[in-house]
This record gives sequence, C-alpha cells and structure tokens, in this order.
Amino acid sequence: MIDIRPEKPADSLAVKTILQRAFANNEHSDQTEDLLVERLRKSPAYIPELALVATLEKKVVGHILLTKIDIVSNDGSTPSLALAPVSVHPDYQNRGFGGSLIKAAHQQARQLGYGSIVLLGHADYYPRFGYKLCRDYGIELPFQAPAENCMVVELHKGALTGVNGMVKYAPAFFE
Ligand SMILES: CC(C)(COP(=O)(O)OP(=O)(O)OC[C@H]1O[C@@H](n2cnc3c(N)ncnc32)[C@H](O)[C@@H]1OP(=O)(O)O)[C@@H](O)C(=O)NCCC(=O)NCCS
Repeated sequence: MIDIRPEKPADSLAVKTILQRAFANNEHSDQTEDLLVERLRKSPAYIPELALVATLEKKVVGHILLTKIDIVSNDGSTPSLALAPVSVHPDYQNRGFGGSLIKAAHQQARQLGYGSIVLLGHADYYPRFGYKLCRDYGIELPFQAPAENCMVVELHKGALTGVNGMVKYAPAFFE
C-alpha cells in the first residue's frame, strides 16, 4: 500500500539518500538536489504541508517538494508554487510512487488555495498530470532550458487566466 504523508525531521536521512540515488545518473542534474532540499527547508518558501514522502510498509521510498514562488509581470505578482524536486528511490521506480506523490501534492496545494505549479522537468512525464508548456501561457522560467521542459499546471480551470510573466524563485535555488 502506498501511503503519502508530510515529511518529518526523522525522514531527513532517508530523503537525502533517495535524492542522491535517484539523481545519481541523471544527465540534467548536478547531483546537488539533496542540498537544495536542505536549503529550501530552512527558507521562507517552505510550506510543511507541501513537503511529502511516499512510504511502503513505513519505509520512505519517495519524496516531493513544492515551494512558494511568484509569477511577476508589469501588471503585478501572482503567488504560485515550484515543484522541485520529485524523486523515487531507484529500487522502487515505475511502481506508481512518483505519480502518487505528484497527485497528492496537487491535491494539497489546491486545498491550500494555490492555483498553479511550475516546474522544469522531463517533457514526456509531466503532461500526464496536466502540465502544459509555460510558453503557451506567456510564463518564463529564469533558466537556460528548452521550452519543452518548462511546464505549468492549472490546479483549477482558469487559474492562469490573465497570469503571465517571469517566475521568481526562492533565493535558495541559486545559492
Ligand atoms: C521521475 C520519477 C520521480 C518518476 O517516479 P516513478 O515512481 O518511477 O514513476 P511512476 O511509477 O509514477 O510512473 C512511471 C511512468 O513514468 C515514466 N517515467 C519515469 N521517468 C521518466 C522520465 N525521466 N521521462 C519520461 N517518463 C518517465 C515511466 O516510463 C512510466 O511510464 P508508463 O506509465 O507510461 O509506463 C522517478 O523515476 C525518479 O525519481 N527519477 C529520477 C529523478 C528525476 O528525474 N526526478 C524528476 C526531475 S524532473
């Protein structure tokens, strides 16, 4: 049985191991996602309800983190979330944990009143969860990345109507 729950301080070591193992062979990774997560936990962008772990028989096998961002244009600023990172221990991949974490995070974010989530990620993975190209909404991420990897999802229909601009990430992403 897959169980999804908020992370606890006691999960930190298991989460670190998952991040290091999951991203070890990822060509788009600099293998520092574990450090990013540690910085984000200490940052004002951290929302405890949106840092989740997936467990199997109480063992932590996956992790997801959504943190606060803003989508900023000349017309103003809209609060949103960044999904970064999501990871599943290699021994447990392709068993639905990643998908369950993403759907649970969406649900929690919706309940907290957020309207959208942006991410930089695999072009073939995220569209199944409703993600579309940022470009189609006039939303930009501050990274040198192909447009097909810059994605955003509306958590309810119309949430991004009239929203566009540059995503402002927490400073912890650039430290
Ligand atoms: C990406 C990741 C979180 C998915 O978790 P998971 O539990 O393995 O995924 P699920 O079991 O929910 O889904 C499996 C499906 O995702 C697909 N998938 C997994 N990784 C993928 C990738 N990098 N690109 C495209 N599709 C991918 C599988 O092919 C499978 O597709 P199918 O359902 O059509 O057969 C996990 O593979 C992982 O930790 N990868 C390494 C870290 C990483 O790349 N994180 C994402 C950064 S953007």
